[in-house]
Order: sequence, then structure tokens, then C-alpha cells
Amino acid sequence: MGGSESTNPLGGFYGQRRVVVTGGAGFIGGHLVEALLLLGARVTVLDDLSNSDGSHVTMLAESYGGQLRFVYGSILDPVALGEAMVGSEVVFHLAAMNSVPRSIEEPDRTFEVNATGTVRVAEASRRSGTRRLVYAASSSAYGDDPVLPKVESMLPRPVSPYGASKLAGESVVRAWSRSYGVSGISLRLFNVFGPRQRGDDAYSAVVSAFISGLLSGTRPTIYGDGTQTRDFTPVANVVHAMLLAGALGSDPDGQVVNVALGRRTSVRWLFDAVARLVGREGVEPRMAPARRGDVEHSGADITVSEKLLGFKPIKGLEEGLAETVSWVMKQREEFDSPVAGGVTEV
Ligand SMILES: NC(=O)c1ccc[n+]([C@@H]2O[C@H](COP(=O)([O-])OP(=O)(O)OC[C@H]3O[C@@H](n4cnc5c(N)ncnc54)[C@H](O)[C@@H]3O)[C@@H](O)[C@H]2O)c1
Repeated sequence: MGGSESTNPLGGFYGQRRVVVTGGAGFIGGHLVEALLLLGARVTVLDDLSNSDGSHVTMLAESYGGQLRFVYGSILDPVALGEAMVGSEVVFHLAAMNSVPRSIEEPDRTFEVNATGTVRVAEASRRSGTRRLVYAASSSAYGDDPVLPKVESMLPRPVSPYGASKLAGESVVRAWSRSYGVSGISLRLFNVFGPRQRGDDAYSAVVSAFISGLLSGTRPTIYGDGTQTRDFTPVANVVHAMLLAGALGSDPDGQVVNVALGRRTSVRWLFDAVARLVGREGVEPRMAPARRGDVEHSGADITVSEKLLGFKPIKGLEEGLAETVSWVMKQREEFDSPVAGGVTEV
């Protein structure tokens, strides 16, 4: 990402523009905030640090000074939200409880943050006269419909509280677009991975968990038989799509759009690819029964995002995996502290 106004047309749009990123201290949010700062935007991050330690945002604040403002607070808190939203022109709403297994343990809290939280963000966007609301929706909305690839016209059938809560957020974005003219768009993201994604707890996403587990010398667990497939998407592609959605000239009117690589691979393939990259080829994963809420196959048709946003993936799967592995290895060398692993989420 990045580039100056002269080399990157998005720089012309975002230069000096006031944008808000909810969940900007998190994994995807951190990458988005960095790209926005590079493009010259004035960025406010609203995050309650419930799933991030704030170190990345602190590092960015040191590099970008007054271009970055951090508001510590919850999207559920109208005061924090009001403070963050002042003068906002584009709002990227990423704050969420982002885990299928955790949503099964804590369904109420998941709905409070992901559904009610999105109402609060949409309301605050309306009040502050925001020109665009970009919502990080999830492919989990498709649920267990066996039809592949997933196209936006399919009836959503989420099977986990997480998927249901993220789908509710899409409805909010569409309703606020139609009822109040908040120009919203929902990007259904498919299994995003990349540097800085957590790999160290029971709710970790699968790519990071495999890397951390394999580097720690353990045998990571695959839940299910490993033939389940996903559209693993390097985070740079998601940032690119979000920037395009924020800058889109026409009103998307609450539309839902897939954002993915458009390539489906099995979890077992992923495990072997990561094992090769970390130099532990031949290690066998532990196998455990599939977990509640997990879907069998997932893969996107990205025709709509190509047509509406002009989106084309900018980073491939192998490149994304290699980049993520090198980042984790570098972190381990720098801090010399083994990251726990071995528990995976697919
Ligand atoms: N990672 C993926 O594969 C993926 C796939 C589809 C959709 N998404 C969506 O993308 C978004 C970002 O995901 P991520 O992987 O970066 O997750 P993440 O957990 O790293 O980031 C979420 C951030 O939101 C913050 N947050 C949580 N609750 C909050 C609240 N009440 N108020 C303010 N901040 C709060 C957390 O502290 C964290 O920094 C989420 O909305 C998620 O549902 C992610």
C-alpha cells in the first residue's frame, strides 16, 4: 500500500481527510490505519483494547504525530463514540468480537458488541454527517449453504452467534443507508490473515495459530478432517478493498460485497504450506473433531467487488503466507519469547 498523491490516486482522496477507524488497534484495523496515514489522512482510532494491546497504535502515533488520534473507549459508549466521530468524513467500522468459538460461549456479549455496537456507530455516523460508512462484514453470514462459490445474492444462513451478529450489522448498515442516507457498504471478508494477527490464544485464527504452534515445536490441531476449505485472504487485499470502498464516488446504498482472494484451499494444504515455510515439513497435525459453528467449505465469487469497487487482489496466497511467517520469525528473534500455540480456529 502507500504511495504519494502523484503515484496513488487514493492519496488524492484521502490526503488531509478525517477518517475514523473503530477497532483500529486490532489486526486488520492496524493495517488499515497505517495505509491511511501513508496516504495522508487524519485518522482517529476508537478502540477499547479488549482484543489488542495498543502497542501498534502507539508505534504509529510516534511516527505520525498529530496525524493520528487515539480515543480509548467502547463503540457502545456514546461519549467515546461522539468524541471519536467529530468531523469524520469516512468511518471504517471494524470493532467487533471476532471469534466463532468465543461467540458460542458468549452469545449475548457478541450481539451487544457486533449488532448493537453497529447501531451506535451507524447513529453516530448519521449525526456527524459522515459521507461514507464502511463496515467489516463477514463471510460467516453465508453459513452452511453448500453452494460454492458464495455470491452476494445467496440467502444468508449463519450457523454461529458470530455469523448471525455480523449479518445483523449488515442489516443495520443497509437500513441506515436507506432510512437516513448514511452512505454505507458492507464488505464480507473471507478468512483474513497476515502479520500482527494473534496466534497465541484459544480464539486465534488458523494461519497465525499454525505458524506459532509450529515455531514453538508443538503439533497444532486441525479441527475436522482437514478437507474443509477456506478462501484465505492476505490482509493487504482487504485494506485495498476498504480504501476503494471509502473513496467510491457513487452511493453504494448499503450494498453487500465479497472481499477475498477468490481461491479456495483446504486447511490441510494450508498446514503443509506453513510447515514447509517454517522448516518443519513432515510434521503431522493433531486431529480433533470439527467444532460447533464451523462451516465445511467457504470460497468467494469476487465479481461484484471487481465491478463496483474496481477491486483486484494485490497479494497472492503464497506471498501472503511467506510474509506472515517472516514477520512472526522476526518478532520471535527480536523478543526471544516463544509464542504459545497449538490451538487453532478454522
Ligand atoms: N480476521 C478475519 O478473518 C475476519 C473475517 C471476516 C470479518 N472480520 C471482521 O473484521 C473486523 C476486524 O477483525 P480483526 O481480525 O482485525 O479482529 P481484532 O480482534 O484484531 O480487531 C478488533 C478490534 O476491535 C476492538 N474492539 C472489540 N470490541 C470493541 C468495542 N466494544 N469497542 C471498541 N473496540 C472494540 C478490539 O480491541 C480489537 O482491537 C471485525 O469486525 C471482524 O468481524 C474479520
